Amino acid sequence: MKYKLAILPGDGIGPEVMEAALDVMDVMTRAAKLTLELSRHPIGGASIDQHGTPITDDTLQACYDADAVLLGAIGGPQWDNQPHDRKPERALLRLREALGLYTNLRPARVYDAMLDASSLKREYVQGTDLVVVRELTGGIYFGEPRGYDSERGWNTLVYTRPEVERIARSAFELAATRRGQVTSVDKANVLESSQFWREVVCEVHKDYQQVELDHMYVDNAAMQLVRQPAQFDVILTQNMFGDILSDAAAMVTGSLGMLPSASLGAGYAMYEPVHGTAPDIAGQNIANPIAMIASVGMLFHSTFKLPAMAQALDQAIDQTLAAGQRTTDIAEPGTKPLSTTDMRDRIIESLSGILDVQQASGVTP
Ligand code: IPM
Ligand code: MG
Repeated sequence: MKYKLAILPGDGIGPEVMEAALDVMDVMTRAAKLTLELSRHPIGGASIDQHGTPITDDTLQACYDADAVLLGAIGGPQWDNQPHDRKPERALLRLREALGLYTNLRPARVYDAMLDASSLKREYVQGTDLVVVRELTGGIYFGEPRGYDSERGWNTLVYTRPEVERIARSAFELAATRRGQVTSVDKANVLESSQFWREVVCEVHKDYQQVELDHMYVDNAAMQLVRQPAQFDVILTQNMFGDILSDAAAMVTGSLGMLPSASLGAGYAMYEPVHGTAPDIAGQNIANPIAMIASVGMLFHSTFKLPAMAQALDQAIDQTLAAGQRTTDIAEPGTKPLSTTDMRDRIIESLSGILDVQQASGVTP
């Protein structure tokens, strides 16, 4: 099979974790006998510096032309004083909207070897394996009217039936491949838009009777996430609640620098790490590349439809961590941390071993 990928390294540590992930992708691509055509384009601060705008029409066109987009990270303090419509973050929102990436999947899984890295006690965190399914192209992020003047600031929270139906379907379909449990998070005790959300989710649920559905108010969900995160399988929620809850879920796992994400629409897909640009450590070859590498795993799973390859990569990351390999951000005090490229090499070594076994037993092509 042949695929086109748009590579958007972005700012800060984005380019270095991207290069590490592309090296890992190369190993997987050869094992799966895929042909990939890659093109690299500036985005965010890098694009502001080169072209005066966080995303150019050329970059956008390259994303339209591609089967999937791989994004590093966007932003940094040197662009903070840009006007609102030229902040690096605008590029991300523009891409989500333009490509119709309405389903945002943010898995938060505890790597066993990392249990003690969580800010919560190990016994609360153990077994956490959840996915936040965040609606990504609607809600208060995009609602009109919006604006502010010297006396007032305002935004609009609106969801339409088709918007809620399609994200609910994404969540139920995902849950059916997992532990079969969806928790829809809303604020239906206060917001009409949430009452509407809840009604539509219940209607869609009729088509997915094998999946269990419950509802939780967002404040309670925030509390439950830090009280007993392992109770969740799939959390389905609107754009802004998902933004907030996914950060909390990520921190619970203690692996903020290690979590991938996928943003999916009807015709396009984008994969990116959950972490930011970490400007303080950029360019030093010390950033943890695992989140970007794991995002490549999600690409293999969702765009290339090669779940066995994705699983092999997850296993390789697990093995590498279990062998005590750590970049600076997750290293135990007093141990010598690996560089970005060393971590990449360790993962490639594990992965090559796993792929050899898989190929010998006929699991991968
Ligand atoms: C995220 C980020 C973005 C968001 C920002 C950078 C626009 O926080 O992807 O979670 O709020 O969606
Ligand atoms: Mg966020």
